[in-house]
Amino acid sequence: MFMPLNPTAAPAGRGQSQAIDLVQEIDRIDGHWQPRVVAEMNDYQFKVVKVQGEFPWHVHADTDETFVVLEGELKIATRSGASGGECASGEGVIVLRAGQMAVVPRGVEHQPSAEAEVKMLLIEPCGVVNTGDGAPGARTVENDQWI
Ligand code: NI
Repeated sequence: MFMPLNPTAAPAGRGQSQAIDLVQEIDRIDGHWQPRVVAEMNDYQFKVVKVQGEFPWHVHADTDETFVVLEGELKIATRSGASGGECASGEGVIVLRAGQMAVVPRGVEHQPSAEAEVKMLLIEPCGVVNTGDGAPGARTVENDQWI
């Protein structure tokens, strides 16, 4: 039987044609701010993650990013960059509770934070770096890690 050398590589089925229990998958992750891919749709990925504390401010110039909160309360502070495009929506704080979602537009700087642990689903194109554009930081994680 073929066993992949890299246990986090994409499965042949790309997580499709099966029920996925998002919270159950999250509970298998070690640590916070460690997104793991559970499925792909076209060139988009569904990533589950648990978070607590503050994430660094960052921006994705080329893509919108969707947050779906499953448990807990997530705050996403936003501010438009100096070169904020026509879609930039200004400064503010989005508060998401379980069952709520938000889309952060491309070009809008954002800083997710959670006082208590939050479990959530991220939907974004393949290849998006979690800490955004610019140099990798302490919170940057390798892409395409499957649970
Ligand atoms: Ni982001």
